Amino acid sequence: MLAHLPKPAVIAHRGASAYAPENTLSAFELAVKQEADAIELDVRLSADGHIIVIHDNTVNRTTNGKGMVSDLSLAALKELDAGSVYDDAFHGEKIPTLAEVFETVGKKIFINVELKNETIFSGELTEKVAQCVREHNMASRVLFSSYNLFALRQIDKLLPETSKGLLPNKGLSGFMVRTWLRELIPYQSVHIPSQYVTQGIIDNVHRQGRRLLAYTVNHPADIQRLIKLGIDGIFTDDPLLALRTIAKKQGWFILSQKSVDTFSY
Ligand code: G3P
Ligand code: CA
Repeated sequence: MLAHLPKPAVIAHRGASAYAPENTLSAFELAVKQEADAIELDVRLSADGHIIVIHDNTVNRTTNGKGMVSDLSLAALKELDAGSVYDDAFHGEKIPTLAEVFETVGKKIFINVELKNETIFSGELTEKVAQCVREHNMASRVLFSSYNLFALRQIDKLLPETSKGLLPNKGLSGFMVRTWLRELIPYQSVHIPSQYVTQGIIDNVHRQGRRLLAYTVNHPADIQRLIKLGIDGIFTDDPLLALRTIAKKQGWFILSQKSVDTFSY
């Protein structure tokens, strides 16, 4: 459950993607090694209905292939090299399926699955993901998130026991969700870009009994600012850097507490 994550939680964005190709088994295994608290990944459906872990709706940016993920079969996607574009050292890395990620790191780390449902009619993705989570006994170890409210509502119907996080859109639709509609959509956390995080937003989200997670934070000064405001978690490409920055900050806090204790005696 989300409630079991430490605060602030370090969530490896698309895996430890500062060190390995994003959304690959290498990036996820590295995040486990680096002792991130969780990984974040993105899911879409292949042409033949398999759950594919990939951010973009095409394979163009992250692989040596071309085309829409939704037009390619699992076999065609598995032919592609998802490592060399990042670095030759990762030549031959494959695009993983969600099942493969669960089988490789599912018992080692908490997983934020971002549902990349393109429209309100893409419910098949949510259904298949729910089935995969059940088959792998992962319900207590996942946090779902989505910009698509229908996907969040649907996953809540299928897996009510799982944690859900809202990725609010900007503009009127985002405003409606954050205000009038928020009680209709069950979610325990709100995930927003780090530059928009203010004390007011954190306090509001906390008053609702929810956690605020910020993305994507890769610089120590930004991490320190967010910790000071009381952020509950950060998405980062560089879990090592984030963990070191948090440890330094907390070390300072313990030290300063100790000196207060010493003084009071
Ligand atoms: O969930 C935080 C973040 O992953 C959302 O943005 O574009 O990286 O999927 P994006
Ligand atoms: Ca994402």
